[in-house]
Amino acid sequence: MKILIVEDDVMLGELLQERLLRLKHERVRVCLTGVEAFQVLNEEAFDCAFVDLRLPDMDGLQLLTAIKEHDHGLPVVMMSGFPTMDHTIEAMRKGASDFLTKPFTLQDVALTLQRIMKERQLLLQNLSLQLEIQARKELEQVNRKLESRVDEHSRLFQISKEIDEIHSSEDLYPRIVHLASSLESVEKVSFFLAPQDRSSLVGMANCGWKPGDSWPQRIEISEERRQELLGNCATHAVIGPEEIQRSFKNAPQTDSILSCWPMRIRGEPFGLLMAFHNDGSRSRPSEETRLLDFLITKASLAVENMALYESLVSNFYGILKSLVNALEAKDLYTGKHSERVTRYATDAARILGCSGAQLETLETVGYLHDIGKIGICDSILNKPGPLSIDEYETVKKHPSIGDSIVSELGLSPEERSIIRHHHERWDGAGYPDGLTGEQIPLLARVLSVADAFDAMTSKRAYRNAMSRDQALAELLKNRCKQFDPSALDAFLEVAEKLSADEDKSK
Ligand SMILES: [Fe+2]
Repeated sequence: MKILIVEDDVMLGELLQERLLRLKHERVRVCLTGVEAFQVLNEEAFDCAFVDLRLPDMDGLQLLTAIKEHDHGLPVVMMSGFPTMDHTIEAMRKGASDFLTKPFTLQDVALTLQRIMKERQLLLQNLSLQLEIQARKELEQVNRKLESRVDEHSRLFQISKEIDEIHSSEDLYPRIVHLASSLESVEKVSFFLAPQDRSSLVGMANCGWKPGDSWPQRIEISEERRQELLGNCATHAVIGPEEIQRSFKNAPQTDSILSCWPMRIRGEPFGLLMAFHNDGSRSRPSEETRLLDFLITKASLAVENMALYESLVSNFYGILKSLVNALEAKDLYTGKHSERVTRYATDAARILGCSGAQLETLETVGYLHDIGKIGICDSILNKPGPLSIDEYETVKKHPSIGDSIVSELGLSPEERSIIRHHHERWDGAGYPDGLTGEQIPLLARVLSVADAFDAMTSKRAYRNAMSRDQALAELLKNRCKQFDPSALDAFLEVAEKLSADEDKSK
């Protein structure tokens, strides 16, 4: 140990120093006064100090106090030739580790040091344990924070993933309220559209409401509150139970807190997410606020993208239809052919029980079925007489040309297949791929009958139009040869209704 001795008796000090060094202690320093001792303590560190109770410049107890203030953990052994009970008690109260009465033996000193070393070791162990506990606590705190961040990130990812999977606004609104309702503080939630210049909000989706207490489908909102919730600068607002009644004309009675989140497209508000939070949620976790904020931002972007996509698709079909119109305008005899074929085919598909989505596909793509004729030269298309074999082979390329034109424009495989296969035959003798029976997509089979009927009943440069009955007889002759029997039967119903309607209009 490094030991400091403060003793004004020079002989005793030196004797003690010599003995302690003999006991293999690392360093032993002797000071004659309290001032000198304190100076030395400021310069170097010690493991133990021996202090005489009477010093020339100060009381040993005063020095003990000063040493403890300097280093509370340093063990101090008081020494005195004339100890009193008061001195002993006072020294122990001030933190002395032991009290040696002069004269003492070397064994007394050795025993005292042994005990001090043990105590010091225990103290160090204790300190190290305390540090370890503190470090563990800090680690646990960091872990808890980390877990909460990981949880938040996985929820953000889930929100992002679920919204990315949505492709129509009808699906989006229920998904937003469902995602919002998964937050702990959210009891129930609704989404409203906010038509411009109207004081009412229109309900689109609800989640968490009990039967019988559903939030109205349409709510009236005060102009002041509308401005606050949907104004340009509004982010989100929190409304207390009593304010809810004042803000919305037909609001239900509730003890909950309401938080309102505006949704915008390019800065323009178009909807409001309203989440009711359970008791005490005015101070709900900032994590939930961040999640709702992210949900609204993400959903707003999704709506904006959908609107943009729908406008692009609509423009794109508009361009293709213009091309078809331009193509048909060149042929005096086939004007509006595509429009009629689409109408007949859609009616027949409806009779066959096709889904709404299939009918929509047919309505869009039917119009474009002959778009490949853009790639065939006019002299063949408008030839006033029968086609040569080579010319016919050229015309037969129009379904595959059409397929490649629309494939570059991003049409789905199902949509492309209708264009590609509208000249296939039920018996496999059609073109371009010679598909047979149900290998041919259903909508292409339906379109094929309608296409043939309209072609036969239209006047051509090299022949007159057939009558409706003649054309129908021709179709029937080709039942199970060129045409799918069920598609043909459905078309015959359409044709019958067409005749009845025309008879009525005469
Ligand atoms: Fe065609």
